[in-house]
Amino acid sequence: MSFHDDDGVSNASANPSFEEICLKRRRLLQGSGAALAVTLTGVPMAMSFLPGQALAAQPPTSADVGLIGFANIAPSTEDTVRVPPGYTASVLFAWGDPVSNGPVFRQDASNTAAEQALQAGMHHDGMHFFPMWNVDRGVPVASSTHGLLAINHEYTDDGLLHTDGMKTWSAEKVRKSQAAHGVSIIEVKLVNGQWQVVRPSTYGRRITAYTPIALSGPAAGASGMKTAADPAGQEVLGTLNNCANGATPWGTYLTCEENWNGYFGKSSGDPSALEKRYGIAAAGAGYRWHEFDERFDTARHPNEPHRFGWVVEIDPYDPQAKPVKRTALGRIKHEGATCTLAADGRAVVYMGDDERFEYIYKFVSRYRADIANKAACATLLDEGTLYVARFDASGKGVWLPLVHGQNGLTAANGFADQADVLVKTRLAADKVGATKMDRPEWIAVNPHNKDVYCTLTNNSNRGTGSNAAPDAANPRARNVFGHIIRWAESGADAAATSFEWNIFVQCGDPDLGDSSKAGNIQGAAHKFGSPDGLWFDERGVLWIQTDVSTSTLNAGDYKNIGNNQMLAANPVTGEIRRFLTGPAGCEITGVTSTPDLRTLFINVQHPGEPASERSDPDKPKAVSSWPDGAAGGRPRAGTVVIRRNDGGVIGS
Ligand code: FEO
Ligand code: CA
Ligand code: CA
Ligand code: CA
Repeated sequence: MSFHDDDGVSNASANPSFEEICLKRRRLLQGSGAALAVTLTGVPMAMSFLPGQALAAQPPTSADVGLIGFANIAPSTEDTVRVPPGYTASVLFAWGDPVSNGPVFRQDASNTAAEQALQAGMHHDGMHFFPMWNVDRGVPVASSTHGLLAINHEYTDDGLLHTDGMKTWSAEKVRKSQAAHGVSIIEVKLVNGQWQVVRPSTYGRRITAYTPIALSGPAAGASGMKTAADPAGQEVLGTLNNCANGATPWGTYLTCEENWNGYFGKSSGDPSALEKRYGIAAAGAGYRWHEFDERFDTARHPNEPHRFGWVVEIDPYDPQAKPVKRTALGRIKHEGATCTLAADGRAVVYMGDDERFEYIYKFVSRYRADIANKAACATLLDEGTLYVARFDASGKGVWLPLVHGQNGLTAANGFADQADVLVKTRLAADKVGATKMDRPEWIAVNPHNKDVYCTLTNNSNRGTGSNAAPDAANPRARNVFGHIIRWAESGADAAATSFEWNIFVQCGDPDLGDSSKAGNIQGAAHKFGSPDGLWFDERGVLWIQTDVSTSTLNAGDYKNIGNNQMLAANPVTGEIRRFLTGPAGCEITGVTSTPDLRTLFINVQHPGEPASERSDPDKPKAVSSWPDGAAGGRPRAGTVVIRRNDGGVIGS
């Protein structure tokens, strides 16, 4: 069973056309002379080095060469977190730990749903550190010893969540699963060299799959958003499958609804064309919520799915603030929402839609962000333009606006108004001719030159028909290991409507002896695959986290790669070193630091996950006993703190 990773394909559209790709490829080959090696399929092999000179990155300097200072560590299959010599990793906040002075975790998973709603959810993912602000001689200073962590809880392994797993099923178990989804806000403090969760805390709170959340932007109140429980279409209960994240310059958290389709089932009838385009299946994906919570039955509540698949904005500093779903940012399987500022100060949010053959998006706000005035930014993400990316084989690209009335997004073509364009974002992107990508995951912006990087985690099955041919931006026919693409917006302006792109790295393992899987990783890391988490620290180090599926971890093409891991890349020289390896059966995802870069927080998601992605409640520690070891009853996802033993800057 694979209900989390996106083995399915929902995009049956024909864009860009096969003929168009072939034509562009011919033009490229004609124009580039003998310098290009060409594979048997006609795809240029050296694509990653072609348009690169045009990107904003500068030639290496001595400072760039010294950007990464730690010693590379080897791959590992050990059931522990390993970090380089001179570093220490410790667990801060694991599934079931109270967010404030709530109930403690019971190792047999006998906490009730009501207790779970006061504790860390399962399967930690994207995360951001929001500093407390001190005033020093009248000047606000961001603390690096005291702040708030906002942490996503992506999904649940119900084999571990309940004492007897899913052997029996009940409304209480559905409620507990819903309570283990969403977001945690916790207050954290460095005391005597140790980070700890502050308990009690007025900031500590949980947002779950049933917390009231406001709808805003063009789709709020639209007819397609109205349900029996919410006839005005203005308020949704809950956020779920919160994957990657973003943070705004005005101090709010963005959490993203990714594989939300899997929670819906249909008690009668077949899924509609729109439901199929978003991967909604009659049987659901194994969460079984629709059996006891009727709003997840699309036969009874056909508009309820329209209320998921959005980016949600949360103010972590105000525990009373109601979260808001920002519909202007589109409805997709949102991986992350990376926020930056355009040259003129407008907010720009980059977003991937993680499924095979889906697209990369960005939103540009209509108004400038007054980042020192949070109240002034309260509706900033409600008005603006949503774009989708087209990557041309020439090494250039275009942002295509998804605006009603433009590019065929008309009533005659099935888009009644802008709200309809947003509810059907994937269909709109099909219509304007976006480029299908190899599973867009996280996006990161280089703070020094504004280049944008996106992980394309893998795509090992292109199938047949319009999807079958690789293209310049997704150049491997069987992309088992994934790649990282990058682009420079015209004028280094995030609001630009054109860009130049190249491939930063093709992941792989040269030790397999298969040139189609070797990749081109530079530096001591030598081999890794399935890049997912991606983040630039303020020094300009690009941190990469991997999510090799537990069905392939340490087997087959991944036999030499070890457990999921985190690496650091120098974006100028391309050098990559391995910084951290995780425990057995985990994914490493979520990364943030204190402003002084001397504390790094990362998440270990689903340690102990078996290949089936659902644990056997009779053998909960079959794969991993991290982090509690012999004393624990089951593995637990957790936030890990990493410090240098000498207190220095992480990674330097
Ligand atoms: Fe939740 Fe695409 O990772
Ligand atoms: Ca991810
Ligand atoms: Ca992934
Ligand atoms: Ca995973």
